[in-house]
Amino acid sequence: MKFFTLLPLSLSLCTAATAPPSDQQPLRRPDEQQRLPPHPPPGHLPVMMGSSNDNDSQVQPAVLLYDILGTQRSLTTFFSLTRMHESTSEPLSDANTNTTVLAPGNVVIDDLPRKPWENPSDYAALGEQAYDGSGGKDRADDNLRRFVEAHLVVGTSPWEAGVKAKTAAGTEVWWEAKKDKDGNEQRVIMPDEVQVDRVASRVANGEVWILKGVLNYA
Ligand SMILES: *[C@@H]1O[C@H](CO)[C@@H](O)[C@H](O)[C@H]1NC(C)=O
Ligand SMILES: *[C@@H]1O[C@H](CO)[C@@H](O)[C@H](O)[C@H]1NC(C)=O
Repeated sequence: MKFFTLLPLSLSLCTAATAPPSDQQPLRRPDEQQRLPPHPPPGHLPVMMGSSNDNDSQVQPAVLLYDILGTQRSLTTFFSLTRMHESTSEPLSDANTNTTVLAPGNVVIDDLPRKPWENPSDYAALGEQAYDGSGGKDRADDNLRRFVEAHLVVGTSPWEAGVKAKTAAGTEVWWEAKKDKDGNEQRVIMPDEVQVDRVASRVANGEVWILKGVLNYA
């Protein structure tokens, strides 16, 4: 089962490469240098603050989602997954399209009983070897792409409460403000009822919301 052993390795390599503790400049593949718009010089890239207050995240007009996502340590796994496919990395660096990124934290993804690259229908059709060999790797890659797509609301940001929007995976989502048990208002992504931990960042081409769970990625 090659993919089983390769994925954690490539993820940890990506993580190590994108989030060095003292350097906030995100890693870029050389081929991305040219089509990306100018970005802030090294040392001027803002880091997302660890606050739960929406008011702390003012819009940062010179920064793109691609840049800011790479600086958030609790989202390194999701960020690595977005970079595997152009269809999911492209919107993040597209200055002309606003996207709301619904990013599950590292811990949430690590704890999933079904991994983002697994799909029950693959096991049903192909049995335990569903992810063996090169065909298996392609299936796993496809499932990872769909997982990320289910968490990108491309074309919608700012996103008002109750407004129905489509994810890149084609699923319909909206959000509602609900009171938690302490009476604090909490955003909840519907219809899956996944709580938003916080709106971590607002930048030129969208917002990063950190989720406490994952949206349906079947
Ligand atoms: C932001 O601050 C304003 C004024 O201090 C307050 O009325 C508003 O409710 C705050 N919004 C959030 C989301 O915390
Ligand atoms: C895109 O997001 C920015 C930052 O929030 C906002 O100023 C701009 O109006 C948005 N554009 C559209 C088309 O909604």
